Amino acid sequence: MSDKLTLPKPQGPVDGARETLLSVEGLTKHFPIYGGFPIKRKVGAVQAVDGVDLSVGVGESVGLVGESGCGKSTTGRLITRLLEPTAGKITYAGQDITHASRRQLAPVRSEIQMIFQDPYSSLNPRQTVGTIIKSPMEVNGIKPAGGVEKRVRELLELVGLNPEHYNRFPHEFSGGQRQRIGVARALALNPKLIVADEPVSALDVSIQAQVVNLLQKVQEEMGIAFLFIAHDLAIVRHFSQRLAVMYLGKVVEVGDRDSIYNRPRHPYTHALLSAVPEVALDDATEDRERIRLSGDVPSPIHPPSGCRFRTRCWKAQDKCATEEPPLVQLSGNPAGHLTACHFPEEPTTEARAEDVVMDPALKALEDAPTMSPAKD
Ligand SMILES: Nc1ncnc2c1ncn2[C@@H]1O[C@H](COP(=O)(O)OP(=O)(O)OP(=O)(O)O)[C@@H](O)[C@H]1O
Ligand code: SF4
Ligand SMILES: [Mg+2]
Repeated sequence: MSDKLTLPKPQGPVDGARETLLSVEGLTKHFPIYGGFPIKRKVGAVQAVDGVDLSVGVGESVGLVGESGCGKSTTGRLITRLLEPTAGKITYAGQDITHASRRQLAPVRSEIQMIFQDPYSSLNPRQTVGTIIKSPMEVNGIKPAGGVEKRVRELLELVGLNPEHYNRFPHEFSGGQRQRIGVARALALNPKLIVADEPVSALDVSIQAQVVNLLQKVQEEMGIAFLFIAHDLAIVRHFSQRLAVMYLGKVVEVGDRDSIYNRPRHPYTHALLSAVPEVALDDATEDRERIRLSGDVPSPIHPPSGCRFRTRCWKAQDKCATEEPPLVQLSGNPAGHLTACHFPEEPTTEARAEDVVMDPALKALEDAPTMSPAKD
């Protein structure tokens, strides 16, 4: 690889319409476990991410969903190269960045930004908001027209904050406002891709709607691609054009949002859809049979053989223990809708719409998807 990466136009279609901005193939991260005394040696590995294939098109929003511990954050950190992959390949804008050095990564770093889950710990409490937002520009030697301070004030306004709050400290803001600061910081370098790792899960539901709306505005109006990580299908449904469902280090189903929601073929996806918050349950829905996932996610140190979901799957058969199901397009599903299951669910379009009961605030999001500049 040459010393510095150049960034040609992204190559190749993702879904026939969009050009691919990011693609990962066989992405793997095994965290070694050391033990023994007096000489420590490797005794095992946490298979946090194990052969993930994923792509994000230019300006596209892809949701990455799954239960706690399934490897979502690790995937995001591998893509942003905060972690070094154990195996696999990461291609950004046609360039292999899998093992690029810090120096080689420099031009790419500004184009791929991350928004973190916790708006309380991700902002330096000793820095003013102005310093927090301008530091990525200074580190990357970017001098915006009109000066850095003017740009910071513009960014504050863009994310729905008062530009006069430039000199305030993070503790003077609410959780939702802090996450807006995190969004402004991510936007400071005009990124092409934002990896948003559960950006609203630490916020109240009413505030979640505002921040999701802000991110959607950013995605649509600025054409920024998103990998939106969430454990809640309701949120990514609103935000993402395509969804990837992860279980224990692997993508088990991926496809267009509507196809995944209307025709989930993987039992785990089906179960996740059934588990959407039940706050809005009323008399009409109270008795409806739902799929409830029982038991915990198995340890990623010793994942089950064959299909990793088999220990919780109500459809598991012998084959599921011996053969890992490949991620493939099942008959009847549209191109790009891939499922990894030996005994997939039948398409259940009608049942799905009834099954999914949304939290009222998230339902309001669906009904009014456009951005409101509300300040919390
Ligand atoms: N640095 C690390 N060393 C060892 N194991 C790790 C490390 N980071 C993550 N893990 C393990 O890898 C697995 C995946 O973790 P990850 O944080 O990616 O999950 P997640 O899907 O983001 O979960 P959550 O929804 O709780 O944020 C977990 O079992 C976790 O304990
Ligand atoms: S492969 Fe078997 S265990 Fe895995 S999801 Fe499909 S039916 Fe269930
Ligand atoms: Mg996480």
